[in-house]
Amino acid sequence: MNFIPYGKQSIDKKDISSVMEVLKSDFLTTGSKVQEFEKALCKYTGAKYCVSVSNGTAALHLASRILLQENDEVLTTPNSFLATSNAILYAKAKPIFVDISKDGNIDLDLCEKELKKNSNIKAIYAVHFSGKVVNQKKLKYLKEKYNIKILEDCAHSLGGSFKNIKAGSCKNSDISILSFHPVKHITTGEGGAITTNSKKLYKKLLLLRNHGIKANPKIAPWHYDMLELGFNYRLTDISCALGISQLKKLDSFLEKRRTLVKRYENAFKKLDFIKPLYPYDKGSAYHLFVVKFDFKKLNITKKDFVLKMREKNIGLQYHYIPINKQVFYKNLGYGEEKTPKMDKYYKKAISLPLYPTLGFQEQDYVIRCIKEILNE
Ligand SMILES: Cc1ncc(COP(=O)(O)O)c(C=O)c1O
Repeated sequence: MNFIPYGKQSIDKKDISSVMEVLKSDFLTTGSKVQEFEKALCKYTGAKYCVSVSNGTAALHLASRILLQENDEVLTTPNSFLATSNAILYAKAKPIFVDISKDGNIDLDLCEKELKKNSNIKAIYAVHFSGKVVNQKKLKYLKEKYNIKILEDCAHSLGGSFKNIKAGSCKNSDISILSFHPVKHITTGEGGAITTNSKKLYKKLLLLRNHGIKANPKIAPWHYDMLELGFNYRLTDISCALGISQLKKLDSFLEKRRTLVKRYENAFKKLDFIKPLYPYDKGSAYHLFVVKFDFKKLNITKKDFVLKMREKNIGLQYHYIPINKQVFYKNLGYGEEKTPKMDKYYKKAISLPLYPTLGFQEQDYVIRCIKEILNE
């Protein structure tokens, strides 16, 4: 069996010819594909504005430059990729790590407790972990009651929804960010995007993405003014062409992910030491399929189990090592927060392979290997 990773891209001939077309054209970057991709993302998510950028981390960086001030405190989750809270630090603001709830997402009730006692908290950075969109009703309530900024990190949740509210629509947030890294729902190689419903934020984002400069053809065709200290975070037309082609297949990708999730759930339903992180949720975009193993009941540690699966050519993954326990964060004084649910979760949680081109035979092999190793 070839190596089966926990996630990977699904590229077909149409994707390849879309990219080839751009390579043969006049504009490899700053051409028409950029706006076409952004428009398609607006249409899909329902947000009014979209700015594509070079990766999801750049999206978080620009968003944080706009939403946060120095010394603001920001509630966020330890259960994410580092980039989410790093972006808070980029803005010289201070992340506060809040414990997670049963589904792996930030606990919004605990967020309210923090908000009640600390008026310096200016924002929540919520991640829709694994694709499960956080409770939008509660998000709206917190935003309105405490007059805070909300950023939704939708790197895992493109195509997901909470009731009728789509991830990335910014219905109850100021800004959402997306990532198009190859393991995500659609890919552009590296790539990301920011969505918002605010024209003011949109204009600032456009400026910051391109060195803070604004063309001024009224003065001369070549003239531009630098108004702010910005960056080069542009996404190329090559990448955007791939993104446009991929986005057309997103719904079928999601369908396949959900089918695979149901097959896993079916295979494990009689085993009391393997439990999906949350009951099947049709609104989850299932970027990850996380299962909790009761290693206390099993004769193997989490590490040895993952290593044994690697010997069988299956790449399981940990999502995530708690951010606040990373060396860099510990050096900043983090790591001792009371996050009992995150600690318990981390001991048990493992992501199984899940991507649209994962065949049923390969998935059955993964299931067989899990059962074999655990029965030993
Ligand atoms: C939740 C989350 N946020 C942000 C990012 C950063 O995205 P990128 O890798 O495109 O910079 C990732 C990437 O893995 C992620 O998983």
